[in-house]
Amino acid sequence: MPDKITSEVASLRLDDDEFIATFERGGFGGGDFPHKAHIRMAWMYVTRVGPEAAIDRAAGGIRALAKANGQPTLYHDTLTRAWVYLVADAVTKSPSANFEEFLARNPQLLDKRLRLAYYSPDVLSSAQARATWIAPDLAPIPGAPKSSVGGREPEDVPAVAGADYLAAFGSVPTAVAVMAATDGVNVHGMTASSVTSLSMDPPLVLVCVQRESRILPMIRASTHFSVSFLSDRQPDVARHFASPQRAAGAAQFHGIPHRAGRFGLPILTDASAWLACDLWCEYPGGDHAIVCGLVREASGRDAHPLVSYSQRLL
Ligand SMILES: Cc1cc2nc3c(=O)[nH]c(=O)nc-3n(C[C@H](O)[C@H](O)[C@H](O)COP(=O)(O)O)c2cc1C
Repeated sequence: MPDKITSEVASLRLDDDEFIATFERGGFGGGDFPHKAHIRMAWMYVTRVGPEAAIDRAAGGIRALAKANGQPTLYHDTLTRAWVYLVADAVTKSPSANFEEFLARNPQLLDKRLRLAYYSPDVLSSAQARATWIAPDLAPIPGAPKSSVGGREPEDVPAVAGADYLAAFGSVPTAVAVMAATDGVNVHGMTASSVTSLSMDPPLVLVCVQRESRILPMIRASTHFSVSFLSDRQPDVARHFASPQRAAGAAQFHGIPHRAGRFGLPILTDASAWLACDLWCEYPGGDHAIVCGLVREASGRDAHPLVSYSQRLL
């Protein structure tokens, strides 16, 4: 069904160059960027830089738009790509140098339900589809990859022996942190040494979290998590939050000095640095999920950090 409000919307009154410049600096309000504006943006990039570069530019711009409107988790990787591929297919089959003329030749692109010809709602609503490309499950989109991003099957990978892998990484020192998250009822903490700074603009951090861990569904449900980087006085705290024997819920924090930080999440007060994050995106990473957080708060103090090295906590 065509989008009725588009003719009134600010984004569509701009000329092509103004439109794309405003888009790239996140200058549109949420209501100023309806479906028709998404299609125009995809059409402009596809015709100017081709489909693959269009995906990068579209993704960067939509993330900026989401951030500027205070909704950083709104970006949906699969849908962004799918619409770019649909536009690219229409450009190939019936090109036009004018956007309105292009739409007149391809009115199906104005119907947001077109995506449901290719994807079932369950696939589109999955966290995986939001975070990374999932191939259509109902019908192929011309020009789009037919397989999902998820890495090759293990048997295809000439993998190093597990012992060698562990020996190598045992020689690499890492900081040790306790992540915390809640599902609104329970709170949970987990020791993690895979916490790494990822990006300054936007400020992102990544953590690799076991797919079967109890904290992962809580992070997905609440879209928040905290990180307390431990000090060298806290090896027992690291062991505690890695132990399957620890109490469940809030009880696992008993006896460990902490306070409620942003989002109500526990912050360990004797730690050396702290982060409070929104879930930004998640990628598959073998038996772990790569969780990327947009850092909302960060602070630190002058304390020697706890380091994991050669299977020891130093
Ligand atoms: C020093 C250290 C570092 C760890 N780093 C990670 C990590 O980066 N990611 C992860 O998923 N688990 C990590 N673990 C393991 C988890 O803390 C542990 O498996 C925990 O029990 C998770 O399971 P849960 O679902 O019971 O919380 C680490 C454990 C230790 C002792």
